[in-house]
Amino acid sequence: MVIRHADPDDAAGCLAIYSPFVETSAVSFEDSTPPVEQFRQRILRSSRSHAFLVAQDAGQIAGFAYAGPHRERTAYRWAAEVSVYLGERHRGQGLGRALYENLFSLLEQQGYRTLLAAIALPNPASVALHRALGFTEVGVFKEIGWKLGAWHDVLWLARRLGPAEEPVGVRPRSPGPPVRLAAPVAL
Ligand SMILES: CC(C)(COP(=O)(O)OP(=O)(O)OC[C@H]1O[C@@H](n2cnc3c(N)ncnc32)[C@H](O)[C@@H]1OP(=O)(O)O)[C@@H](O)C(=O)NCCC(=O)NCCS
Repeated sequence: MVIRHADPDDAAGCLAIYSPFVETSAVSFEDSTPPVEQFRQRILRSSRSHAFLVAQDAGQIAGFAYAGPHRERTAYRWAAEVSVYLGERHRGQGLGRALYENLFSLLEQQGYRTLLAAIALPNPASVALHRALGFTEVGVFKEIGWKLGAWHDVLWLARRLGPAEEPVGVRPRSPGPPVRLAAPVAL
C-alpha cells in the first residue's frame, strides 16, 4: 500500500469508491455520480490549490483524501475543508488516519490554519476518525439536506493547524502554493 498524489487518471478508481455513497446513502449530498471527466477536474482543482491524495493497493485505488477551500472571502483563506473515502475492504485498518495525517501535514506546511469537515449524520466511523485526529464539534445544521426521501443533519467539525501559540495581532503568512510529498509513502 502506498499513499501518493492523485493523478487525473485516478478519477475512475476514486469514483468506484465514491459512487456507492452517492447512489445509496446520504454520506455524500450529491444526487448522482459525477461523470469521470468532472471528477478528473475535481482532482486537478484540488491539486492546484490544496492536495488530493490516493492510497493505492496492488494497482487499485483503495481510498482518497483531499482538501479544498472553505469560503471565498479573503479572510477565510487560512481555512480548508477536507474529506476522505475508502473502499469497503480497506476500512477499519488505520488507512483513513494515514491518508488524513499525510494530507494535514501538507496543508500545515502550505500555511493552512483551520481544517473543517462536514459529516452527514449518522456516520459513527467518520465522526470517530475526525475526533481521533483532534477535530471538535462546531455545530449541527438540522435537516439541511434532502436526499433519498428524508431530511439529513450535518455535523461540522474543526481543528487548528500550525503553532499552538502565536503573537497577537500579527497576520500569519497566507497559504502558499501546494506542497508535494517528497516521495510516495509506503505503509
Ligand atoms: C470514515 C472512514 C474514512 C474512516 O477510515 P478508517 O480507515 O476506517 O478509520 P481508521 O481505521 O483510520 O480509524 C480511525 C479512528 O476511528 C475509529 N473508527 C473507525 N471506524 C469506526 C467505526 N466504524 N466505529 C467507531 N469508530 C471507528 C477507529 O477506532 C480509530 O480510532 P483510534 O485512532 O482512536 O483508534 C471510513 O470508514 C470510510 O471510508 N467510510 C465511508 C466513507 C465516509 O463516510 N467518509 C467520510 C465522509 S464525511
